[in-house]
Amino acid sequence: MTVCRDCCCGNAAKHPSVDHNAQLDRLRAALPAHRVRTSLCLDVCDEANVMVVHPSPAARREGARPVWFGLVLSDAVEDDLVAWVRAGGPGAAEIPAMLDLSVIPAPAVARSAGADLGGGRDQRPGLRGSS
Ligand code: FES
Repeated sequence: MTVCRDCCCGNAAKHPSVDHNAQLDRLRAALPAHRVRTSLCLDVCDEANVMVVHPSPAARREGARPVWFGLVLSDAVEDDLVAWVRAGGPGAAEIPAMLDLSVIPAPAVARSAGADLGGGRDQRPGLRGSS
């Protein structure tokens, strides 16, 4: 999992009600079998805090792609995200309906879709059609 931490994600000035360091600590503690790494700006700052869940190598070979999540600012979304990763993540487990509301298009997909994206529900990467 990649957790964006740069100019907006993890920025206490942008989201003062979120303890961003504690969020990262909780994710790492909850997912000891997974690598939870931080990144510089992923170029979708309006969606801060942004996180990307990567498929396992086997799932990637089967066609699964990373799934991007935006506005991960609550314990409820964080808990759903952890549960989905533990269940296998992209290509291995269906995204729960509530968590699906937090899925955002990957930036390259958003750019190629232009103004018609409208939320990009059909154009995002991930589990769709892979299981
Ligand atoms: S700082 Fe996370 S998308 Fe820009």
